[in-house]
Amino acid sequence: MNKTRGQWSSNIGFIFATAGSAIGLGNIWKFPGKVGMGGGGAFMVIYFAIVFTVGISIMLTELVVGRKTQKNAVEAFNDLNPKWKFTGILGVLSAFIVLSYYCVIGGYVLKYVVTYIAGANFSGGYEQYFNSFVTNPITPIIYLILFMALTSFIVTCGISGGIEKANKLLMPTLFILLFILLIRSLTIKGASEGISFLFTFDFGKITPNILLTALGQALFSLSIGLGTACTYASYLGKKENLAKNAGVICTLDTFVAFLSAFIIIPAVFATGTPLTSGNSFAFIALPGIFDKMPAGTFFGGLFYILLTFAALTSSISLMETIVAYVSENMKMSRKKAAVIISSSMLFLGILYSLSQGALPLHGIWYTVRDGITFPTFGVMMEHITDYIMIPLGGLFFCVFVGWIWGSKNAIDEITQNGTIKFRLQKIWSFTIKYIAPILIAIVMIMEFAGNIKF
Ligand code: ALA
Repeated sequence: MNKTRGQWSSNIGFIFATAGSAIGLGNIWKFPGKVGMGGGGAFMVIYFAIVFTVGISIMLTELVVGRKTQKNAVEAFNDLNPKWKFTGILGVLSAFIVLSYYCVIGGYVLKYVVTYIAGANFSGGYEQYFNSFVTNPITPIIYLILFMALTSFIVTCGISGGIEKANKLLMPTLFILLFILLIRSLTIKGASEGISFLFTFDFGKITPNILLTALGQALFSLSIGLGTACTYASYLGKKENLAKNAGVICTLDTFVAFLSAFIIIPAVFATGTPLTSGNSFAFIALPGIFDKMPAGTFFGGLFYILLTFAALTSSISLMETIVAYVSENMKMSRKKAAVIISSSMLFLGILYSLSQGALPLHGIWYTVRDGITFPTFGVMMEHITDYIMIPLGGLFFCVFVGWIWGSKNAIDEITQNGTIKFRLQKIWSFTIKYIAPILIAIVMIMEFAGNIKF
């Protein structure tokens, strides 16, 4: 074991941090909208099935590569097979791009915390409020810098002293906030319609597109293919049970996604709000919902604090993946690495922020040709990571562990040569060799063929 690297002080610290990495904006900001579009309960059943077959299997490939080598994502592959170093590089690069826009959205969330603390005055209308904020060339960038600085600060404090400590505080608080909001939403007048929608198992609505949406959401939500789980597992001791940990992390992530659906959908039905996902939902529709609730300003404030914590625990893991690589490979302190990474990432983040409508640059980032709108710079960044880089990362992890390094070697690491039980090893091996790569390949082909609408 490399004595100069940090270590988790406990297995629970690792679980909190890795679950925190997975639980993020994707669970609260994207999942409920997809449940709405995918027919309610039926979508949740399909999502659950995907997470606990394909999702959990890929998560375990990341954990085993990290724990085996005790190195950052790039060096881990270099150690096991230098020809596959590109998978680690792809992960670090994806983490870099995702983090640059994740911090922009994190900044929006911070702004809404401040708005609610100041009394939630949306007198000009919710849409106008959000639009005038995002199209301002300066204010969103100030919030972006704040969110990025907070993320970098926690990462520079180290593995057990920074990341683990922050997650041990943020994760339990996040769960408490979720339960408070759940009770509020379920007791709102008219909530029962939304609750029965969540228990409607209309499998007729499950088209191939919906299936693929569920798979894409699962990969994003579990943070698969970014090298974050791999990096976090590299700080984990050899006696810990990786298969069990993968199960706990996936369960927590899915639990939070489901809780979010039970918080948001009943409130949406009760207030007659259209159910979408992403920015327009989180920053335009939701404030409208909170306004219609008794004590809505208080619960709205709690919700954006919850969203800040969820975003922060994910951004920390993305930053750590890059910091571990840069500081170890370029032999510099974690602090110096974090400053260099944040500054270069800020450039990309600013472009993303300006591409959301700040006047001087807006026209540059989209064009309408022959009636087709080509994506803005921001949408393009999200598409490249969500539908190309992240699925490719997951695919490469499976192929590498299943076929190149070999599932036999991986199982030896998971079981520590037979001293730790791993009952599902045959199923896991089959899933990472065949099921997961084939499914991901289908998603990507469908996406390229333009048939899929996320
Ligand atoms: N897995 C993280 C999320 O769900 C990136 O937001």
